[in-house]
Amino acid sequence: MTVVDDIKSRVDILEVVSRYVPLQRSGRSNKANCPFHQEKTPSFFVFPDRQTWRCFGACATGGDVFSFVMRAENLEFGDALKSLAQQAGVTLPNEQRRSQMQVAVAINESARSYYQDYLASSQGAGARAYLDQRGLSRETIERFELGLSPRDGESLRDHLVRQGYSTQQLNQAGIVRTSENGWQHDMFRGRLMFPIRDGQGELGGFGGRILPVQEGDDSQPKYLNSARSSSFDKGSILYALYLAKDAVRQQGIVIVEGYMDAIAAHQEGFTNVVASMGTALTENQVAEIRRLTADVTMALDQDAAGQQATLRSMESSWRVFQSRVAGRSQGTTLFQRQDMLNLKIAVLPEGMDPDDVIKKSPQEWTNLIEGGMPLMEYLFNALSAQFDPTTPQGKTRLVEAMFPLIAAVPEPAQQDYYFQKLADLLGVTQETLQASVGRPTSAGRSRSRGTASPGRQATPSAFARLEGDPLEEYCLALLMSHPELEEEVEDLRPEYFQRMENREIYNQWVRVCQGRQDEAESASLRGLVDEELAQPLEALLQKSLPPLDSQHRADAMRDSVRLLETRFLREVKAEEEIRFSEAPPDLDEDPPLEVLEVNQRIKQNQSKRNSVLQDSTFRGN
Ligand code: UTP
Ligand code: MN
Repeated sequence: MTVVDDIKSRVDILEVVSRYVPLQRSGRSNKANCPFHQEKTPSFFVFPDRQTWRCFGACATGGDVFSFVMRAENLEFGDALKSLAQQAGVTLPNEQRRSQMQVAVAINESARSYYQDYLASSQGAGARAYLDQRGLSRETIERFELGLSPRDGESLRDHLVRQGYSTQQLNQAGIVRTSENGWQHDMFRGRLMFPIRDGQGELGGFGGRILPVQEGDDSQPKYLNSARSSSFDKGSILYALYLAKDAVRQQGIVIVEGYMDAIAAHQEGFTNVVASMGTALTENQVAEIRRLTADVTMALDQDAAGQQATLRSMESSWRVFQSRVAGRSQGTTLFQRQDMLNLKIAVLPEGMDPDDVIKKSPQEWTNLIEGGMPLMEYLFNALSAQFDPTTPQGKTRLVEAMFPLIAAVPEPAQQDYYFQKLADLLGVTQETLQASVGRPTSAGRSRSRGTASPGRQATPSAFARLEGDPLEEYCLALLMSHPELEEEVEDLRPEYFQRMENREIYNQWVRVCQGRQDEAESASLRGLVDEELAQPLEALLQKSLPPLDSQHRADAMRDSVRLLETRFLREVKAEEEIRFSEAPPDLDEDPPLEVLEVNQRIKQNQSKRNSVLQDSTFRGN
C-alpha cells in the first residue's frame, strides 16, 4: 500500500471535513454550504462510502481527503501529506530515513576527520609516501580530504563510541561491521580513505583503497566502498561533483571512472571532472547533471568502450538525457525547459586511464575531450561492430538496440536522420524498417504499438510497491518523455487523475510548462517535486514506453486524455446520482454540471476514441 493509501484508510473524510463545515447528514451523502465559495443552499457533498467530496456549485470540483485539506488549509501536497500522516499516526518513510541519515552523516564526518589525522600522524608515513609517488600534492590531499584508516580494526570504533555513538548506529552508518563471530570491527582497515560527498557536499560514505603493501592479496578488493544504506547510495552520487559544480556550469561536465582520475584532473586544473566510481551512470546521476549543464563528455577506457554493459548503460542514460524534463532553481518554483543535451564519448588510448593521460600530457587530455564523438554516432559504430549488419540475426539485434534510442530522440528532424541512418546501415528502406519495428516480436520489446507496460517500476519504494493506475501513469510518462505533446493535453484537467501522487506530478509539470523562465539555475522535475513524490516520479520517468512515431504518439496522448476524462465524468455522474437520490435537484438553483451534459461528453469521447489505444489495457480500477 502506498503511504497515501495507508493514510486514506486510516482517516475518515467525514471527520476531517466536519472540522471545517457543519455537515447535514442525508443517507449516503452529507452536504453543507461549500467552504470554498459563498452560497445560500448547500451544493457541497461528502460521500463517505467513496471517501470523496464534490462541490456541485460554483467550484465544480472535488476530490479526496488530500485535495480537501490542501484546499481548506491552502497547503502544498507534501504539507497536506505530513499533516494527514500525523493525524493518522503514520510515519512517513522519509522522516525516519532523514533522522537516520543525519546521524550517519555526523558519524562519517567524525570518521573523516579521524582518518585525516591518522594520515598526518607518524603512522601515516607509508601512505603519505605512496600519495607522493602518485604525484598528489599536499593541497590536493587536503582538498579531497584524503585519509588513512588504522589497521587494527578497533580504534576508530572505540573513538566513535567514546563520542557517544552506539555500535548499532555505527553499523547503520556503515563505518562498523559485524563479522560472523560477532566481532564489531571497523569497516575500513589500513586503507587510503576517499570521503565521498554528494552534490551538496554531504558526506555519504567512503571509498577505501588498499595500499601497495596489500596489493596482490586477491582476497581484498582494490577499493572497498561504504555499504549502500539510507545515507549512502553510490549510484546517486558523482564523486567530486561538489567541487566541480562551478566549473561544470561554465564548461560542461567530464565524467571519468575513478577517484584517482578525478583527483588527478582537478590537480591539473581540469576542475569540471567528476567520477562515476566505476559503475554505469544512473538516472539519478544524469538528473543531477542536467541541472547544471547540457554538455556532457564521458571518458571511457578502451576496454570498457565496446563492452555490453557500457553500451547498455549508455542506452539508458541516453533516454534520460533525452527526456526533456524541466527544471527549477534553488528554493523557487520557477521553471525552465531545457535544450537538447549534447552527450559525447571520448575513448582513451589503449591501456591508459585518465590519470595516466593527464600525467603524461595535459594537452593530450584536452584534445581527447574536445574530440569526443556524439553518443549516437558512437553507438552506431560500437553496435555495428558488435552485430554484423549483413546477417539477419545481426540486423535484428541492431534494430532492437538502436530503435528505442532513436524513438527517444525528441527532435523530429534528428529522429528522421537517425532512422534513415539505421535503414542505410541495414541496407533497407525506411518503409521496410518501419514495417519491421511495428511488428511485435518475441523479444524483450515485444509490446505492440500503443500499449503501455504497466508495473515496470524501477525503484522499490512505498509508492512503487503497489500497482498504480496504468492509464494515469502511461499518460504522464508519455507526456514527460515528450514535452512537445503539451499541445495535445490542453483538455487534461488535474482532477482527471484519481491518484493524488499523479495529480500532483501533473500539477508540477503544468507549472513547468507555463514557461516561467528562470535564468540562474535550472533543474529537472526531479529536483522540484516534494520528496514524497520523488519515488513515484522516478517510476514514471523510468517507465519504458513503446516506440511510436510522432504521429502515433500524439494520437496516443489525445486518446489517453479522453479516456481519463471519460473516467472522470463517470465518477462525477456516479456522485451526481447519489446526490440526487438523496436530495432531488432544487429547481431554483442553476444546475452547473448537467447530468445530460456529462452523458453527452462521455458519448462524444467514446466515438472519438482512436484505435491506437486499447481500452482494456487501462481499465485498471
Ligand atoms: P580503477 O581500478 O580504474 O581505479 O577503478 P582508479 O581510480 O584508477 O585507482 P588507481 O589509479 O588504481 O589507484 C575505477 C573506479 O572503480 C571503483 C572505484 O570508484 C575506482 O575509482 N572501484 C574499482 C571500486 O569501487 N572497487 C574496486 O574494487 C575497483
Ligand atoms: Mn588509475
